[in-house]
Amino acid sequence: MALSSVWNYCVPLTIITVACLVRNARCQAVQAENVTVMEGGTAEISCRLQNYDGSIVVIQNPRRQTLFFNGTRALKDDRFQMVLFTPRLVRIELTNVSVSDEGGYFCQLYTDSTHHQVATLSVLVPPETPTVEVKQEAVEGGEVELTCMSPRSKPAATLRWVRNGREIPGVVSQQDNGKTFSVSSTIRIPVERKDNGAALSCEAFHVALGGQKRIRHYRLDVYFAPTVRIVPPTGILREGDSLSLTCSVTGNPLPRNIQWSKINDTLPERAEISGPTLQISRLSQSYNGTYLCQAQNNYGRAADHYTLLVYDNVSPPTTSTTAVPPTPTTTQQITSHSTTPTLPTPSFAPDPEDPGAVVETHSAVPYAVIGGVLALLVFTVICVLIVTIWCSVRQKGSYLTHEASGLDEHGEVQEAFLNGNDASQGKKEYLL
Ligand SMILES: *[C@@H]1O[C@H](CO)[C@@H](O)[C@H](O)[C@H]1NC(C)=O
Ligand SMILES: *[C@@H]1O[C@H](CO)[C@@H](O)[C@H](O)[C@H]1NC(C)=O
Ligand SMILES: *[C@@H]1O[C@H](CO)[C@@H](O)[C@H](O)[C@H]1NC(C)=O
Ligand SMILES: *[C@@H]1O[C@H](CO)[C@@H](O)[C@H](O)[C@H]1NC(C)=O
Ligand SMILES: *[C@@H]1O[C@H](CO)[C@@H](O)[C@H](O)[C@H]1NC(C)=O
Repeated sequence: MALSSVWNYCVPLTIITVACLVRNARCQAVQAENVTVMEGGTAEISCRLQNYDGSIVVIQNPRRQTLFFNGTRALKDDRFQMVLFTPRLVRIELTNVSVSDEGGYFCQLYTDSTHHQVATLSVLVPPETPTVEVKQEAVEGGEVELTCMSPRSKPAATLRWVRNGREIPGVVSQQDNGKTFSVSSTIRIPVERKDNGAALSCEAFHVALGGQKRIRHYRLDVYFAPTVRIVPPTGILREGDSLSLTCSVTGNPLPRNIQWSKINDTLPERAEISGPTLQISRLSQSYNGTYLCQAQNNYGRAADHYTLLVYDNVSPPTTSTTAVPPTPTTTQQITSHSTTPTLPTPSFAPDPEDPGAVVETHSAVPYAVIGGVLALLVFTVICVLIVTIWCSVRQKGSYLTHEASGLDEHGEVQEAFLNGNDASQGKKEYLL
């Protein structure tokens, strides 16, 4: 292979040499070199001379119009300049090369037998940074179709879609626009809301860029229905406290309006809404109820609700001096989050059990204490009764024992044991 290419290269020289030998004259020859240049760049077209004897050198463009006639400009095109004319080398320069300048440039010697050589000018057009077009907007659960385009390159550029360092194979199409090519690569990928903002890139490779690539970065814009969550206040609320509820909303596009309302009622006069926050100062028990935050965009709507319970300011009515404070661990406020983003008519009857449970946990503490004290009292009275009865019975028994002359120490123990058993049974009953 190497040999044959060397052979091909040598052929013209060999023929010339042979011709010269045959003619047995001073042998003139011309050699041209192929040129590859980037569009907009400068091409040097060189004609090498051998044994130049002052003959006329003519250089012609691909349309065979004479550019220079032995060093004199023949065609009016300022982009061409004769930069060198020596007996060994004639060189012209072409600035701001365009693809239309491509073709064979003729280096010609007018001798007895006319020799000419052709320098082929090739123009490379590197691609610009590709562009990305979205054919179909990306909605969660759907697909997005992205087309990366490189409108002009020569030869055709290679496009590659990349996400997280991995190539996504695309459908490539290539169009020949005469001298240049337009290339596109289309991908379709399924999208979820987690893909919103995901980074993709389209890379263009080309021989004129060397190892470099032109990269277009693209961020996925995935539309999705809103989610809504009310951030509840911590602790319990009493009359006179102020309430601040913040509605945290997501969605793409982000819902512009956040609506606050009260179920089966109007919002209290003192309610102030600023953006996502609802504020009520100086709470009163008439504000008890379920408050609703709603948001919507073109892709759906969502709501969350919060049940407000305002406790009175007076401390719980307990007779006991050891009043147990209400446990803060039990949630006094009940929020529930609507998981379905699209709620046509949200029916938010508050959980019938939970508010009741809350009331109970609050007032159950004193009742339990009173109950316990009562049980203890009853138990003590019964114990005293049993002991009294037992004592009187034992007195009778002791008479008998004395008569039976100390025989029955065991009986006494047994009896006591039995009675003790009775007492413990009675105790059990009352405990139950
Ligand atoms: C110059 O380019 C032409 C056309 O592409 C080709 O036929 C020729 O072999 C090339 N010559 C050299 C010396 O590479
Ligand atoms: C062509 O130009 C060269 C270099 O300027 C010169 O030496 C030569 O005499 C010219 N030939 C003719 C025929 O004018
Ligand atoms: C280069 O050529 C193009 C057309 O081929 C032209 O639009 C541009 O102005 C030229 N640039 C210069 C610097 O001459
Ligand atoms: C408000 O809720 C609290 C706590 O459940 C309750 O004690 C109070 O009676 C309620 N007031 C009204 C007016 O509903
Ligand atoms: C709203 O009123 C309706 C009908 O009167 C009732 O069924 C529903 O439970 C009420 N909801 C709330 C949260 O009070």
